[in-house]
Amino acid sequence: MDVYEAVATRRAVRAFTNTPIPDETLERVLHAAARAPSGANLQPWHIYVVTGAPLAEVKKRIAERVASGDPGDAREYSMYPPGLRSPYRDRRSAAAGQRYRALGIARDDEQSRHAEVARNWDGFGAPALLLCYLDRAMGPAQWADAGMYLQTVMLLLRAEGLHSCPQMAWSVYRTSVAQVVSPSERLVLFCGLSIGFADPTAAYERIARAPLSETVTFVGG
Ligand SMILES: Cc1cc2nc3c(=O)[nH]c(=O)nc-3n(C[C@H](O)[C@H](O)[C@H](O)COP(=O)(O)O)c2cc1C
Repeated sequence: MDVYEAVATRRAVRAFTNTPIPDETLERVLHAAARAPSGANLQPWHIYVVTGAPLAEVKKRIAERVASGDPGDAREYSMYPPGLRSPYRDRRSAAAGQRYRALGIARDDEQSRHAEVARNWDGFGAPALLLCYLDRAMGPAQWADAGMYLQTVMLLLRAEGLHSCPQMAWSVYRTSVAQVVSPSERLVLFCGLSIGFADPTAAYERIARAPLSETVTFVGG
């Protein structure tokens, strides 16, 4: 698979089979992903890979909290800026519209939407969860490094026939994740990445992108 194909076929998969992933495959991907760039080569990411009984325990702890109506832990970072303006707000709403349409969920069907959001904390059925933490001392540039690292992982997973879903949702119940994973107090949970084989029977729509003219400016001579 070449890089174009890996980029073109990567999508946020939200339905996985329970087929386990061989340890060697994940190790190969993470070994290769270590080549991701970072400013001054800080490599600021702290990665945990959770599978098997510990992953089941994380999911169980969070499911109990979700079922009891617990809205989650105090935020350690903002997922989105407050008062998100156009065009970002419109893009977010268009993406949500596409996603729920593919699932046959109506815009005003709050209950089904809530249930769909809750599937985040089952990792959409994925057998592996990669957690990306950052040292609290790190700033926006190092958070960007972590994004590059995660995209590198996601593309390499495609080369292995695997799919993934990046999920900030795990940070909502970060203390339950921490009870199982025991990260250092110095670390902030940025994002999880559910990893597995895509369920070929699940409905989805490819999420559209803004035309290049909205996001790219060529300044040529
Ligand atoms: C940093 C980051 C966090 C995300 N968090 C979530 C999440 O918590 N739950 C979810 O279902 N999707 C999440 N996504 C997936 C995005 O919704 C998705 O990438 C976007 O809508 C574009 O769709 P595509 O990746 O399928 O092309 C996240 C993506 C990124 C990059």
